[in-house]
Amino acid sequence: MRTIRSVADLLPAEVDWVMRRSSQHRTGGATGEIRPRTIVGLAFLEASLRTRTGFAAAAVRLGATPIEVLSVRSGPATKPESIGDTVRTLAGYSDVLVVRAGEPLTVPDGVNVPVLNGGDRGPEAEHPSQALIDLFALQQLPVQFDALTIALCGDLRMRAARSLLSLMCERPPKRLILITDHALTDGFSVPPRLQGVSEYRTLDELDDVDALYVVGIPYGALDAAGRTRLRVTTEHLDRLPDHAGVFSPLPVIDEVDRGVLSHPNVRMFEQSDDGLFVRMALLELLLGAGPRV
Ligand code: CP
Repeated sequence: MRTIRSVADLLPAEVDWVMRRSSQHRTGGATGEIRPRTIVGLAFLEASLRTRTGFAAAAVRLGATPIEVLSVRSGPATKPESIGDTVRTLAGYSDVLVVRAGEPLTVPDGVNVPVLNGGDRGPEAEHPSQALIDLFALQQLPVQFDALTIALCGDLRMRAARSLLSLMCERPPKRLILITDHALTDGFSVPPRLQGVSEYRTLDELDDVDALYVVGIPYGALDAAGRTRLRVTTEHLDRLPDHAGVFSPLPVIDEVDRGVLSHPNVRMFEQSDDGLFVRMALLELLLGAGPRV
């Protein structure tokens, strides 16, 4: 049974289909494509706001019913049940699963429904649904994707950034600007297919940037001076061209100044809102809709 752990588990034609389908849902022009009484299992064993409630809302909008597991079963006198057994059990009651395991995603034997990684952990961690949401947001800009100059700012080793970079390998932008700190480069390398379009810069060099994507920085990854150097301010955003958009997988805690959220170029919450339509399309894909490939 199909598992989408990584962006690489999606065919380019499927990514294109999800983008088209998301647009149809956004404009209200799509009719439901899933069987009645479909159940969407959500195993979120690590905190999530957007991914968990976004997939629950997407299920309801499609006419399906979400069922959720938010922790492994445990009690004062028992050892916790394993994550594998928890996922296997939920799979038995569901037609499709979205799993945030809190560790590298592995699908246990006996799971006979499609599984989507809802953002896992580890050196190869990915967040494929977030990357599709990001691509959809970037496609709303008034510049063709392959003509965009996209800047990524923050800890580029985060799962959302890894998945977005992986997605860009199949569809490179014109320029990819990387804004980070040397303390955050251990374990990061630009994917070979993007090296020809990439360059490192600082936050003061945004004049030609069409899209600024703010990646989270985990607590403890950077000292206070480093966090301040990478904090996006309205002065930085005032350097962007008028049409530019500022995006993020969210949450942002201190990666941006609070005033930034009301800046006219900031689209972070619109990006999050549109995530509903992308998640609807992804659930349909997992449940058997999609392009003939
Ligand atoms: N972007 C994202 O994954 O947010 P949550 O952790 O709230 O799901």
